[in-house]
Amino acid sequence: MKKLSDFNRIKLLPMVTPIQSLTRLSDYLGGPQIYVKRDDLNFIGEGGNKLRKLEFHIGEAKARGANVIIATGALQSNLARVTAAVALSQGFGCELILKSKVRRYDDDYQYNGNVLLDKILDVRTYNVSSDADMLKTVRRLEDKLRDAGKKPYIIPFGASDALGSLGYVSCANEIADQMREMDLRFDYVVLPNGSSGTHAGLLAGFKALDVDIDIKGYSVLDNDSVTADNTLELARDTLKLLDSRAKIGSSDVLVDDRCLGDGYGIPTRRMIETVRLVAEKEGLFLDPVYGGKAFAGLVSGIKMGKYRRNQKILYLMTGGVPGLYAYRKEFYSGSH
Ligand SMILES: Cc1ncc(COP(=O)(O)O)c(C=O)c1O
Repeated sequence: MKKLSDFNRIKLLPMVTPIQSLTRLSDYLGGPQIYVKRDDLNFIGEGGNKLRKLEFHIGEAKARGANVIIATGALQSNLARVTAAVALSQGFGCELILKSKVRRYDDDYQYNGNVLLDKILDVRTYNVSSDADMLKTVRRLEDKLRDAGKKPYIIPFGASDALGSLGYVSCANEIADQMREMDLRFDYVVLPNGSSGTHAGLLAGFKALDVDIDIKGYSVLDNDSVTADNTLELARDTLKLLDSRAKIGSSDVLVDDRCLGDGYGIPTRRMIETVRLVAEKEGLFLDPVYGGKAFAGLVSGIKMGKYRRNQKILYLMTGGVPGLYAYRKEFYSGSH
């Protein structure tokens, strides 16, 4: 089996991200003990889960001699913002193709949050409509940059291919070490699942280590069957990239779409209540598109008795807080 050090990588996280216990929230919910792993910490570009994936993609871009990075996403994409920050800080140029995926046309969504940070970074952005063919749009930009004598490197959707998922193989190794140091075993790792690379990387990482732990992804982009299929395929591709002989079956992929609501980026009442609850009990902020919905799924799972009182749950905080500023009006209505 290959080691992570066999791949091109640049370090973007200067330390192991801490795990902390959410005692007040766990007591309030009266269910299992909840812990969080702080992958939301702001090491660079407002941080978040995409940093771990970018360690491998930007490492690969450097090895290939690229000088400009192309990233894609929704208008309020966290990946686009953090890719731009990392690319610039590593001496690359960066261009973003941002799709109008969520039908929100108010000023907060159009100009605040991640869009504001992209603007401050002053990278070139191309705004395209919801029905744009992203593959063609990316190819066109790539050709244009090559014609101008540049060497582009394209970050795949969500940075979620096998290479990007290695970032979460690394995180699985970290969690396994932390469990040993803390002398405890988590029954579940719980997280949001969008383009599935984070979930797939954790799954592949724990399988490769032969650590038996359930990974539960709350899907915030697609329904549970599409998300589970993507996650399984990607986890298998990741093991293949590692030359690992570990096996992953469909029963290993736990996905729940009950927190999705009407679709990606569309707020739900439970997301708003959960963002408020976690802030009030623990002083921690979840984002409205990923963490707010996934944690809402966890809270309702606890209320439905799906997680037992004596269990220990590790919730992966994935960042995305700039998104809150794009969803200002949801948090003003109905508050004190
Ligand atoms: C803040 C945040 N959390 C979670 C995710 C989901 O990660 P993945 O796309 O690997 O499923 C994303 C992806 O965009 C994100 O920005």
